[in-house]
Amino acid sequence: VRDSTLTPQLFTIFSSLIEDACGIHYELRDKELLAAKLTGHAEEVGHDSLLDYYYHLRYDDPHGTDLHRLVEALVVHETYFFRELEPLRYLAEQHLPAIVAKRGRARVWSAACSTGEEPFTFAMLLDQQGILDRVEIIGTDISAAAVEQARSGRHGRRSLRDNYPPDLAQRYLENTGRSITVAPKIRDAVQFSTQNLLAETMNVDPCDVILCRNVLIYFADEQIVRLIHRLSRKLVPDGLLAVGVSESLLRFGTALTCEERGKSFFYRVAR
Ligand SMILES: C[S@@+](CC[C@H](N)C(=O)[O-])C[C@H]1O[C@@H](n2cnc3c(N)ncnc32)[C@H](O)[C@@H]1O
Repeated sequence: VRDSTLTPQLFTIFSSLIEDACGIHYELRDKELLAAKLTGHAEEVGHDSLLDYYYHLRYDDPHGTDLHRLVEALVVHETYFFRELEPLRYLAEQHLPAIVAKRGRARVWSAACSTGEEPFTFAMLLDQQGILDRVEIIGTDISAAAVEQARSGRHGRRSLRDNYPPDLAQRYLENTGRSITVAPKIRDAVQFSTQNLLAETMNVDPCDVILCRNVLIYFADEQIVRLIHRLSRKLVPDGLLAVGVSESLLRFGTALTCEERGKSFFYRVAR
């Protein structure tokens, strides 16, 4: 790339293009990080100036193919099995068994599921409760590459980290030391698809539980409020939304109320 300087003006137009596309918000202090990613992609698409590359993405990429490739390079897929397990345990061991007992079936959506470790963990917990076959589990992510890997049920070593529950890992994961494979029963219990959480249409029926964890941290407040509003319309009346343990919605004053259940915090549509 002939000119790879990300001037403040270029930073502004690129970061708003990216935020509109996927919600990821860049601060000026992330400028160098963004510049490196942009330069790499500009080169791949054959542009030797960042401004040309910008014009290409904005006006000459009608299906958003190259923009999507850029987004793929920007998203952080970091996830692992049994991450932030306590809230999942509460949902799978207390909340959903009661719903299944009452209504026969339930639906769970792992929104921004990355490579699938989160919905797979949830499926394991439900299987232990004997209700896996009565709970529909949906996993979606903006990244086609992540979804493809999720579908395969094959994961890298880093998907299993310290302090995992040995009983669950032994029962449902085959660990060769180089890769980790999810038991077919668990893999087949989750339906994966790509879904941009900011897209106008969200093809998901109302859910008893929505997990939207460790993705809001990348979004600006305005985007979070909009997303939470849209997610709350995908919850059944007593449905629960879980966000990441480091994420809180309390400062936003959304239509959701926060409740502590079984030592974890969840959000519910206020009655
Ligand atoms: C850090 S991972 C979190 C995975 C999992 N929920 C967890 O807590 O371990 C964040 C995921 O959010 C996805 N993501 C980012 N922006 C998104 C958007 N606008 N729509 C859907 N997914 C998005 C990324 O592709 C990435 O896989």
